[in-house]
Amino acid sequence: MKMRVYELAENLKIPAKELIVFLKNEGIKVKNHMSNLDQDTIELIKEVVISEKERKEKEKEKRQVKSIEINKLPNLKELSFHLKVPLSELMQKIINYGTISSIDKEIPVNVLQKIIQEYGFQIKYSEKLKDKLDFHKKDKITKLIPRPPIITIIGHVDHGKTTLLDVIRKTNVTKGEVGGITQSIGAYQVNINNKKIVFIDTPGHEAFTTMRARGVKATDIAILVIAADDGVMPQTIEAINHAKAANVPIIVALNKIDKPNANPEKVKKDLSKHDLVSEEWGGETLMVEISALQNKGIRELLEAISLQAEMLELKANPKIPARGLIIETKLDKRRGIVASVLIRDGSLKVGDYFIAGLTYGKIRNLIDDKGKSIKEAGPSTPVEIIGFSKLPQAGDYFQIVPDEKFAKIIIEERENEKRSKIMEESSKVSLEKLFLEMKEGKIDKLNIILKTDTQGSLDALEEALKKIKVGSQDKEIKIDIIHSGVGNITETDIMLASASEAIIVGFNIRPDSNVQKIAKNEKVEIRLYRIIYDLIDDIKSALQGYLKPKIKERICGQAEVREIFKVPKVGTVAGSYVLNGKIAKKDRVRVIRDGKLIYEGKVASLKRFKEDVKEVNAGFECGISIENYNDIKLKDIIEFYNFEEVKEQN
Ligand code: GTP
Ligand code: MG
Repeated sequence: MKMRVYELAENLKIPAKELIVFLKNEGIKVKNHMSNLDQDTIELIKEVVISEKERKEKEKEKRQVKSIEINKLPNLKELSFHLKVPLSELMQKIINYGTISSIDKEIPVNVLQKIIQEYGFQIKYSEKLKDKLDFHKKDKITKLIPRPPIITIIGHVDHGKTTLLDVIRKTNVTKGEVGGITQSIGAYQVNINNKKIVFIDTPGHEAFTTMRARGVKATDIAILVIAADDGVMPQTIEAINHAKAANVPIIVALNKIDKPNANPEKVKKDLSKHDLVSEEWGGETLMVEISALQNKGIRELLEAISLQAEMLELKANPKIPARGLIIETKLDKRRGIVASVLIRDGSLKVGDYFIAGLTYGKIRNLIDDKGKSIKEAGPSTPVEIIGFSKLPQAGDYFQIVPDEKFAKIIIEERENEKRSKIMEESSKVSLEKLFLEMKEGKIDKLNIILKTDTQGSLDALEEALKKIKVGSQDKEIKIDIIHSGVGNITETDIMLASASEAIIVGFNIRPDSNVQKIAKNEKVEIRLYRIIYDLIDDIKSALQGYLKPKIKERICGQAEVREIFKVPKVGTVAGSYVLNGKIAKKDRVRVIRDGKLIYEGKVASLKRFKEDVKEVNAGFECGISIENYNDIKLKDIIEFYNFEEVKEQN
């Protein structure tokens, strides 16, 4: 039975338009509401739409508003009790709202309402409290002030990122300040037409990755440096994608225009394929031609940044407790732990308590990007902070908190969370676990993600990997290439590897440092090769190394029983003479009588002159007793043996 789109829509009680969008998202092509759908599609869509409807209804039910009655403004502890939400979670919420309130202080009514709503509750105020609170009084409108833009520079290798940063720093930081700028602060401010711009000095991608990983926005604008003689390269595209994913506007700096073979027009054309269309071509992207080397066009570039920043209308609230990003950390011999923090919003001052990642502290000393001690700092300012209890990590989110108690509770909670996460993760992926399981014979498959430089090498390697056979007939370890492709290793590859317990094998490619970092975090192993033979050989021997080892018995030595002692509580002890080899307490034993095996078991004790010993060499006498066996006879041979592993060869 066939049905037209609009009929099905009626049937499902949803607008036809909605259904068409839905079909498109599911990859089903329809022209319009009159298009015909076949039976299978209809069934499929019905199922999906109905289950989606049910899910929405359930969610709605869940969100049924519950109300809380209060007759006084609660403090955080009381609210945690009312909402049945952990105190530390509420504490984190309240600082996110920019409120500085210690645990025992009443929560301001405007924040209280927001938090309660967020948890799907409604407040019912008692009459008495209503009288006390003046609801008509609007929340104090905090005045937002414009703040300087924060910029990162991104682009392909050798296209001139560092040179550009250098020339900006040298020419736009007032003389005398240049030398003073703490090189290690990782960010600095420059002045252009009396407006400040902040540059982050870390590699652009890193700023994006940390930003995305932690849900923090590190930069406002990305400068994409492209050498006009080289054009759009793989990392250029990657950089564009990073910036886009992070929703950060891009300004293009067409660098090296001094070069005779520079062709900025071609670059512009290529960029339009990536949705970056210059203004002169009717697009929205600011593009500036520069030569970082000859200091040309730099002023124009900075002006473009100013312009872009104006369009973004960047604002901050200097009245709230500061929050920002740790951009660099170090352990200074003289000063102890020093961290550079880029304040995104709010203000901080010496003496404030703060948290960052898994550490907290009190600001003992505050230093600006010129190395000067300052008392306080506001939005978009890079500062150095001294007073951390532990070394934070670059990329950690930094927040001012009301007091030490507050800081400690949150950090403790974060540590607990981290601990349980590690537990979870180590049971999730981890290559060690993977190989351990292989070793134990629990798994018999190695998942591989294969990335190579060319299609040719990809084909060759796939072929070769498929041919690898390791293991015995009844227990063969298989290689399963779960994903392969031409091009560098990406974050997605790592996520895939992590999710499917795979290792990543790269041929003639090098993952960038971010990818390597992510791999490390995700505990995904990357193996890189340049020679096909090495790759194959390595995988083969890795598999052999981790194969369930074949076990071979090894005879260590033999002893002859020459005297029998019956010892109360111990049992029979065989006074013996070691005929050959070396016998050890940890070995297994078998009793041989007239060439026949009588008993096999473990050593209970091995003694020389009443002393416990680990080993006895040939030619010496000793006392041997065997676990659960007392029927030893004179002239019995006690043979000592153990097992050794042999690597499987193919
Ligand atoms: P990575 O850090 O390796 O990714 O490179 P990068 O993008 O920081 O490039 P870098 O600034 O190190 O410049 C690479 C090379 O290009 C250096 O030899 C620079 O001198 C040169 N270079 C940079 N800008 C210009 C320019 O405007 N014109 C010319 N001719 N050469 C430039
Ligand atoms: Mg560089």
